[in-house]
Amino acid sequence: MRNVKNLAEKINKLKKEKNAVILGHCYQNVEIDEVADYVGDSLQLSRLAAQTDADIIVFAGVYFMAETAKILSPDKKVLLPRIESGCRMADMIDLEQIREFKAMYPDLPVVCYVNSSAEVKSEADICCTSANAVQIVQSLNVPKVLFCPDKYLGTYVKNQLENVDVITYPGYCPTHLNILVEDVEKMKKEHPFAKVLVHPECHQAVTEYADYIGSTTGIMKYAKESETHEFIIVTEKGVVDRLSRDCQDKNFYLVSNKAVCPNMKMNTLEDVLNVLETESNEIFVKEDIADKARQSIERMIAVNG
Ligand code: 13P
Ligand code: SF4
Repeated sequence: MRNVKNLAEKINKLKKEKNAVILGHCYQNVEIDEVADYVGDSLQLSRLAAQTDADIIVFAGVYFMAETAKILSPDKKVLLPRIESGCRMADMIDLEQIREFKAMYPDLPVVCYVNSSAEVKSEADICCTSANAVQIVQSLNVPKVLFCPDKYLGTYVKNQLENVDVITYPGYCPTHLNILVEDVEKMKKEHPFAKVLVHPECHQAVTEYADYIGSTTGIMKYAKESETHEFIIVTEKGVVDRLSRDCQDKNFYLVSNKAVCPNMKMNTLEDVLNVLETESNEIFVKEDIADKARQSIERMIAVNG
């Protein structure tokens, strides 16, 4: 039988021996927290990847997150527990497609959500995450920007900023778009006093029900600090799992059991142990692409990191 404690002990021992750090996104299987040095959203994890003095970064997340860590820490060995764990939104735009998008609107600055490949980031002027997208667009101080790949995050930003036109690329997150207005309404009927906390990757019709809209960590912070005791969580299941573990005096309801990212759920403790033992699944980014992508990410961190 699977022994989580035993696996975690082995990982923690190897981690010390190899001077490795384990970064975990809050959509991961909650067992990853047994060994993760930090668990957070994309912005926090990028910042930590840039600052760490570990020799090895094991990124328990999806491909673009590990790639971002490699771009920010090119001298470190970055390992992804399951190499096939991509992001379905990031896969919706490639180098050719971002070039075509830019060619349709020459001269407009390009803001690129970090949920994208290194090549796509290398064509952007600045990156953003869901935690800072509004501030990043605002910081450019221009009347119009291009935003890729997430149409819905871009639309959310546009709605927050009166004086900026945001032209969006038609990408989206299938996990968040699976969440329907009917799901929220059903949950609200069942839990009329619950606050509704929504990730901005959701459809605009869903965000309209929100008492709070924010990144995964933003949602967790809001729920922990709120005096309310019931919450409908409108994002991936990992957030509900962590909140239910951390705040046992409160109730958290996942908006729909479709709100699960299959790629985020691939990594297990066995996979983490395997990459630490074998140092396999190493992430590489071509130097010229990494240099350009790094500028877009570092510009973001300088504005809001
Ligand atoms: P965060 O920016 O909240 O970490 O979300 C990343 C993500 O993949 C959402 O689907
Ligand atoms: Fe990508 Fe959506 Fe999964 Fe986030 S939840 S990693 S955006 S597919």
